[in-house]
This record gives sequence, C-alpha cells and structure tokens, in this order.
Amino acid sequence: GITRHYKFDIKLYNVTRLCHTRSIVAVNGQFPGPRIIAREGDRVVVKVVNHVQNNVTLHWHGIRQLQSGWADGPAYVTQCPIQTGQTYVYNFTITGQRGTLFWHAHISWLRVTVYGPIVILPKRHTTYPFPEPHKEVPIIFGEWFNADPEAIITQALQTGAGPNVSDAYTINGLPGPLYNCSANDTFKLKVKPGKTYLLRLINAALNDELFFSIANHSLTIVDVDAVYVKPFKTNVLLITPGQTTNVLLETKPQFPGATFLMAARPYATGQGTFDNSTTAGILEYESPSNSSVSNQNKKLKLFKPTLPKLNDTAFASNFSKKLRSLANAQFPANVPKTINRQFFFTVGLGTQPCPKNQTCQGPSNTTKFAASVNNVSFVMPTTALLQAHFFQQSNGVYNTTFPTKPLIPFNYTGTPPNNTNVSNGTNVVVLPFNTSVELVMQDTSILGAESHPLHLHGFNFFAVGQGFGNYNPNKDPANFNLVDPVERNTIGVPSGGWVAIRFFADNPGVWFMHCHLEVHTSWGLKMAWVVLDGKLPNQKLPPPPSDLPKC
Ligand code: C2O
Repeated sequence: GITRHYKFDIKLYNVTRLCHTRSIVAVNGQFPGPRIIAREGDRVVVKVVNHVQNNVTLHWHGIRQLQSGWADGPAYVTQCPIQTGQTYVYNFTITGQRGTLFWHAHISWLRVTVYGPIVILPKRHTTYPFPEPHKEVPIIFGEWFNADPEAIITQALQTGAGPNVSDAYTINGLPGPLYNCSANDTFKLKVKPGKTYLLRLINAALNDELFFSIANHSLTIVDVDAVYVKPFKTNVLLITPGQTTNVLLETKPQFPGATFLMAARPYATGQGTFDNSTTAGILEYESPSNSSVSNQNKKLKLFKPTLPKLNDTAFASNFSKKLRSLANAQFPANVPKTINRQFFFTVGLGTQPCPKNQTCQGPSNTTKFAASVNNVSFVMPTTALLQAHFFQQSNGVYNTTFPTKPLIPFNYTGTPPNNTNVSNGTNVVVLPFNTSVELVMQDTSILGAESHPLHLHGFNFFAVGQGFGNYNPNKDPANFNLVDPVERNTIGVPSGGWVAIRFFADNPGVWFMHCHLEVHTSWGLKMAWVVLDGKLPNQKLPPPPSDLPKC
C-alpha cells in the first residue's frame, strides 16, 4: 500500500440550515467534512490541528486499528483531548477491510457537525465481487440542530432530563425539500439511465436509527461496515448510527428528466421523544436534449418512496436477519467456533437519584435519566485509559471488576423492578491476547424496551444469533449461525430482545464499547475492554507517539 496524507484544520464555520445560521465546529470549512479515500492496505496519516475553544478528538469509526490503538480516538479512552492550539497526528493502516466507514469527533456531542466519509477501495489489481459501478456516491445521514448541541447535552445532564431532539435529518448535510425553508438545501443525485451506481450509505446521525428508500427503485445490499455480504435486493433498508451500508442502484433504461425522492426517517422504539421528520434528496435522470419534454416530465413525475412505520420492529428484525457474510474462499468468515470467555450484558436505561437540593426533570422529579451495561453506568476518567494501562498506572483510573453478569437479574422483558437505579463505575474487562469471546447483549424493559445500536471499537464481530424475549442459554445457542453470520462493528440489540456476537480479541489495547445513540452514551451506556499483549513482537501494542496529547 501507499501512504495518504491529510490535514484537518478544526475551525469554526458558519452554516445556515432551516433559516438558522450557526457557527459550527467543522473540518477545513466543510460540512460534512472532507472525504478520506484509501485502498485496503494503505496507510492513512491525518494531521489534526485544533483552532477552536473546544477540546477535540477524532475517531476512525470501524477501522480495526490493529496495533495502532493510540490512533483510535475516543476521548479519555485512547487519548486525552487535543486542546486549543494543539496538533495530533493520527497514523494507521487499513487492514483487511473494504467498503465504507466514517470518521467523527469522539468527545461530548461534537460529532453532530464533525464527521465525514472514509471510502476504502479494494486492493490495487483486485475488483469488487459485484459488477463494477459506473459511479460511486457517498451518502451520509446526519442531524441538524438549530440550537448548539453542546449546550443541549450540557443542560440535559445538569437537569437529568432527556435532551431536546434535532430539528432535521440531513443527507450530505442537507435537510431537503420536506422541511420549511430548505428547498434549496437538497441533495441531488443526477444519474444516467441504464447504469449501476454504488451508493455508500453512512448513518452519522446522533440519536436515531433510520429507514432509507428510493422511490420506484430497489437497492442491492453488497457490503456493511466495510465487509462484503451476500447480495440481496430490498426496497427499504435500516441503518443505525455507526453503521455503513454499500448498495448498488441500477437506474432504469429510460425516464428522461424524471425525478424520484430518496428519503430517510427514524426507526424509533423507546418511550422518549424523538425527531420524527423526514429528510429527502432527489434522484434525477439526465434530461434529453429536448428540454420542453424534460420540464414536462419533471412536473408530471415526482415519485415518493414508502417507508415502514416509525416503530416497525418486525421490519428491523427481518432486515437484520437477511444480512449474511459473503463467506467464500476469497473472503472467508473467520467465526470463533470454540469460546474461551462468555459474557452476558444487559443494556438499557435506568435512573439515578436526583442530587440533594436539586429538582430533576428525569423520569420523575426525584430521579435523573441514566443508562448502563450490567447495571453500571460508566464514568469517564480524567486521564486516558490506554495510557494508564500501557504505563501500568491504572490505580485510581479504572478497576478491573466489570461484572460479567447483571448485578440485579430480573425478567428483562417483563415488568421492570421497582428499583431502577444504576451504580457508577469505571470498570473494564481484561482479556488475554486472542481470547475468543462470546457476548450476549440483552435489552431491558426499564423505562421501556428500546433498540440499542452497540458499537465495538478495535474489532469486527460476528452476529451469530438474535431473538426476542429473554436470552435462553440452554436453547438459543443451538440456532447460532457459525457459517456465514454478518460481520460488523455496530449491531442493533433488538427492542425487547437480545443479540449474540463473537470475536477474537486479537488487537492489544483498550477498546471502547457503547451505544451509538449519543444520548445513551452520555448517560453511561458504555464500557471498555482491555486486551493484553501477546507473546510475539507483532502481538504487542507499540509505545505512544510523542505528540500524544496530555490531560
Ligand atoms: Cu462511532 Cu465510539 O464511535
């Protein structure tokens, strides 16, 4: 591979959407941010200079970071923030991945404006395992807030309330024609008839899973989270925050000048409020030279897609079951068959008592919202976990007593217990190098069943099983798919159900795992794995780069 150099200047940038102008934190004066393009096997070097008042870190979401954990980026996990005026160089090699990923800020809620696509092309002299597309187009979904998102989350955490929801969803930063004051801010994809387009879909939204569809066109799914899948056609797809999906779009043989809407809106399961608006873009077929015909067509034909209802969990579950690894000779699925360590984690919401002398606006005025893994709400340390681990200074930073089972077992999909309080802690799970891990994640009904898109840093995992109700360790493993389960880095734990994943802990370092609904991360639905060095030199985490920011 070759080395690709990028420079990211983090600066303020004025953006107007929905008739509201805000000064946003952005990279190189672009919103969404610049695209990173590399081939599998290339090294990517990104020099990040922070010119804003905010502390910043960047995360290369889904990049394995094999032995380059110092470049992963979550604040206080692998690094201290890049402070005003500071520079940090992220340096990593793309190994064994091809497809689409994305980068985003990984501190507080900054990722709402600080994000952009990562396009990973196949190795030189290799091709896609599907027809070569005529053109490739990144489509990145996001959220727009008229108010400052940093102020929204800060206030929500102070009052214990659920934060205000966004004012629009966006396609490549543009809300589209279904919002007031937004007709000119519409993503338009001009296509030729009879061609194949590769759409690289990314959900960078803060808090919402999204359905996506293009009117009168079916999409062939070929790759998720930068891993090829067995292709299948669908009219609608579901994409959670943190997931990426490559689809082939075949344009029809004619339709001169006709336009079709593409649209995305939420799949929402929880009890809380959410932004239930719809973002749309336009697929426009090239006009014939006779422009009067085309203008006529434009008026006559504006096709609109139909999307599932907002809480269509049956669709979500059926869709995710259709995803299978390609699992052929060239791209085998290396699924762990024997397991060294099994874990059972409950993921869901909970409460914490309202601090004395304060009135809270949580689920009741004596409680505030919280979220947890196995009843523990993760508290961020004030120094980076990876540094503490590497320099053997974990005392006072984290402890290694993360519960491998829920502290308070109950019927997770039945009536919630009276006491919904969760405890606080900075606990990690320590894994020897190359441990084969099975992790079952169970949604809980506390404050309502809800789908949680769980994201694991540093690894891809195989989703070997999923189901509704309580996971049954005596029955459910018999149905696990160990042949061609989908391999990815972010998976929806089904609303009122569970998912089982497996992975090899073959990457030394400290790896964050969290719900990619940012509000749940803020409330503590997160934890970390510490993977120890192996014996061989190529199984060890190298020392940190000299410019690693200090806390
Ligand atoms: Cu996309 Cu920990 O993040």
